[in-house]
Amino acid sequence: MSRWLVTGAAGFIGSNFVRRVLEVRPDLHLVAYDALTYAGNLANLDGLADGGRMTFVRGDICNQQEVAAALDGVSVVINFAAESHVDRSIHGGAAFVQTNVGGTQTLLDAARTAGVQRYVQVSTDEVYGSLGPEGRFVEDSPLQPSSAYSASKAGADLLVHAAHHTHGLPTIITRCSNNYGPYQFPEKIIPLFVTNLLEGRSVPVYGTGQNVRDWIHVRDHCDAVLAAAEQGTPGRVYNVGADSEKTNLELTRAILSGLGCDESRIEYVQDRLGHDLRYAIDSSRARQELGWQPQVRFEDGLAETIQWYRDNQDWWRAIKTGAYLKYYELQYGEKVEE
Ligand code: NAD
Ligand code: TYD
Repeated sequence: MSRWLVTGAAGFIGSNFVRRVLEVRPDLHLVAYDALTYAGNLANLDGLADGGRMTFVRGDICNQQEVAAALDGVSVVINFAAESHVDRSIHGGAAFVQTNVGGTQTLLDAARTAGVQRYVQVSTDEVYGSLGPEGRFVEDSPLQPSSAYSASKAGADLLVHAAHHTHGLPTIITRCSNNYGPYQFPEKIIPLFVTNLLEGRSVPVYGTGQNVRDWIHVRDHCDAVLAAAEQGTPGRVYNVGADSEKTNLELTRAILSGLGCDESRIEYVQDRLGHDLRYAIDSSRARQELGWQPQVRFEDGLAETIQWYRDNQDWWRAIKTGAYLKYYELQYGEKVEE
């Protein structure tokens, strides 16, 4: 049975990936590796070890010994582990550089020593920086990241490229647009707004709400990463997106309507520093070369996601306590009672 290492497996996309791969690839064993930072949550993997095809290992991608031990017998590495929130990177970038850049290099070195057959780096369209009103990112668009988050992800992409170029490590980079779906940490816009509304609170829209993001359901992203791991050409980059651009205000209105709320619940707050105006991704290479295409319509995916947060209130209410509330106060200047 082939053994794959999935780092960041207790986070949003990593845990969706583990769940999906266990379902569709009965011949794989997954080593689910995660440091369990504030964003990592073992509850995201509940029940998945039961079939005996997933082993959870608590470890840091920056730790050479822990990574080397986890790689024993592994043929494929998928690196989802990262500090992932732009707003937190504005408060301080050090953890982003440490994990996203340093951790990636540690993994690359260990993957080379272990002689893996594939190393997949899960990257983001944010490495391309911001678009104006026209055009879309292609794989050859210049890397012009503008936050410490996106700069650290771009740094990681360059190190992945270097490991391929210098050592022939069979690497693949995927660059996906904004994800949404179940198990997303309620600091990102969709789960933050849905859970705030379920709590009877307002939703903080940055600036005028005219910034644009290109949305994809997490299941479609996971299928693209799987396709890239199995069918991608080493050394290649694949953009992943679902052609679903929305301004933040359009998105907010869709969430309000999905929860039966009106616009009085919107609170316009101070804009994000250095706020990227627009992301939009051209994913034709992935569609042509990986035989992949997104399956989830945004309207259906959003309705399903809202329902998931309605049905799983224990999951997010357990998160929105303690350290989360401290972060909320720092970010939004609003004290929330537990
Ligand atoms: P997340 O914050 O929900 O999960 C990240 C996981 O990585 C957490 O479980 C955390 O505990 C773990 N982690 C952090 N530092 C670690 C370390 N040093 N060692 C081991 N584990 C560590 O993030 P996500 O939204 O699931 O994103 C996963 C990946 O996908 C990231 O690399 C991110 O850059 C990329 N990505 C995310 C999006 C998106 O919209 N969320 C879009 C494109 C790409
Ligand atoms: P986010 O979910 O943080 O993802 P990213 O910054 O990686 O794209 O933010 C998505 C968009 O929503 C972005 O334009 C910022 C905006 N936003 C708000 O307006 N209010 C909020 O409270 C948050 C978290 C984000």
